[in-house]
Amino acid sequence: SVLTDSRGPAIPAAMWGIFFEDINFAADGGLYAELVKNRSFEFAKPMMAWKEITKDGGAGSTLIINRGETNANNPRFARVSVKKDKGSYGLANEGFRGMGVFKDKQYNFSILARQLSGNVKIHIEAVGANNEKLGETDLQGFKSDWGKYTASFTCKATDAKAHLNVYFENPGTVDIDMVSLFPQDTYKGRANGLRADLAEKLAALKPGFIRFPGGCIVEGRDLANRYQWKKTVGDIADRELIINRWNTEFANRSAPDYFQSYGLGFFEYFQLADDIGAEPLPILNCGMACQYNTAEVAPVDQTDTYIQDALDLVEFANGDVNTKWGGLRAAMGHPKPFNLKMMGVGNEQWDAQYVERYKLFAKVLKAKYPNIKLVTSSGPSPDGDKFDYLHAELTKEKADFLDEHYYQAPEWFLKNAQRYDNYDRSGPKIFAGEYAAHIKDTKNNDAEYKNTWISALAEAAFMTGLERNADVVQMASYAPLLAHVDAWQWRPDLIWFDNLRSVGTPNYYVQQIFSANKGTNVVPVKMDGAVVAGKDSIYSSASMDAATHQLIIKVVNTSSVAQSVQIDLQGKGKPQKVYSQITLSSTDKFAYNTLANPLKVSPQQGGGGIQAGKINTSLQPMSVNVYKVN
Ligand code: AHR
Repeated sequence: SVLTDSRGPAIPAAMWGIFFEDINFAADGGLYAELVKNRSFEFAKPMMAWKEITKDGGAGSTLIINRGETNANNPRFARVSVKKDKGSYGLANEGFRGMGVFKDKQYNFSILARQLSGNVKIHIEAVGANNEKLGETDLQGFKSDWGKYTASFTCKATDAKAHLNVYFENPGTVDIDMVSLFPQDTYKGRANGLRADLAEKLAALKPGFIRFPGGCIVEGRDLANRYQWKKTVGDIADRELIINRWNTEFANRSAPDYFQSYGLGFFEYFQLADDIGAEPLPILNCGMACQYNTAEVAPVDQTDTYIQDALDLVEFANGDVNTKWGGLRAAMGHPKPFNLKMMGVGNEQWDAQYVERYKLFAKVLKAKYPNIKLVTSSGPSPDGDKFDYLHAELTKEKADFLDEHYYQAPEWFLKNAQRYDNYDRSGPKIFAGEYAAHIKDTKNNDAEYKNTWISALAEAAFMTGLERNADVVQMASYAPLLAHVDAWQWRPDLIWFDNLRSVGTPNYYVQQIFSANKGTNVVPVKMDGAVVAGKDSIYSSASMDAATHQLIIKVVNTSSVAQSVQIDLQGKGKPQKVYSQITLSSTDKFAYNTLANPLKVSPQQGGGGIQAGKINTSLQPMSVNVYKVN
């Protein structure tokens, strides 16, 4: 029965959000639409992703020059000399596991260049996997001072594995840097923008918040390689590249070419949040590197820089345009504040070292910005000693949010559907900041975790418990978000993509169903007088939407057989005579969506009649159902 008259806790507008981390080529090579890899020659090996090429008997040479003394952020550039007046010499860029280009779409090339001698001309070509020329354009007339030069071309065919040839012709020498190729149609048409299909998939989740930039990359392998937001804003040519925490040479996850260009930096994250209607939730380093790596920490009496970064970030996001950081935001194109309301202090950090540093952050931040909510770290597991210790300490500190992470087997999610039913209501609110059900694809003898239907179903069952306890659990996000099929380090992930296409997993559709059908207040659902959390393999939560006067009932059937249920709408309100229904189901617990078959497990619409205030329905085997009644 659903007690329709009883309006329970408010469901925060930011309840269901997204966790963004540059893992699995999520930023460079993914959401960030730049197609040229190592555009500024700053990777550990400066010519990584580049190779020398010649055409028609041409000849030349490339020298990488390091001007670190005068330009610490962008030390390297390439000096290209053309040696012959016939043919051409050039540099080819492989892209991020190739470059994806589309037929009839425009691509914008840009380069920083200066002419040292001669009258060098640049010929640019996009070339397909079969060596067919797909588009081309020319640039010339370079001056002796550095300048930015641009040219565009349209591709005549679609290719997922194209590459870029940059040919130099006529004897002479040019210096080049920031060699770039972007599609014209980035998300919302922004310069230095985002890949439209991926950003649209994020927007379609209707996320209440976006957490960025991670994850472990916030911490870095060591403090020198931690994420520092100030290095990610301003002119992209001045953003200092670092090695990605997920740069690895491990077996099939090998990504020795994984660096962070910071082309997608804090300004772009805030802008994305704005564009998709999500609250920004930046997470900052708290003076501790990744505790799985070096576990390096800054001495407690030297955390001022870290705390100052946090204070300055509030000014960057919310400050007046006449302030230093607010002024930079305005100069970057967003004079209006981003309306930052919360911020995370550290990621997956634990022990007394964390608590000491959190206290320092909280003291200064709360004094200056009492309205900014602080999200604290929970350590790696919700069930270990570390978690209990942090929970006790951060409760004493009256922390606003405790960020719990759970990467567990589906059974854990089912068992924990009641995890928050008896939780301490007076302690910190919970941010379920990273979770995913992990199960190996044994059906296909695959040793890897996959985004199978059974994992998504278990998450849905668990999420009914989060929704029921929305007074405690105020934000939740699946993790990780994005993964390139040819360059991943971690799975499962919510959205998979190649250089042209992307696919929402069954887990994606679960997130979308919960987020798009959230409601504004919890409404009690009972079965035999108790919350519905596993009896007869059924899990349920309900809400009402004050604006639309809709009752929204979610029912998850985790059993492999269909079940008949009667939903009894109790209360004074008179429901309309019909309900609409969304169902996500599969009888194959190992089913998953692929780029070739993206909708194998995807929501189906339906509905039916309501008789005497009752919905008589048959729950499909292994299904997630949403019933909506006006
Ligand atoms: O989501 C992948 C990783 O899992 C995150 O970077 C980290 O916070 C967690 O350990």
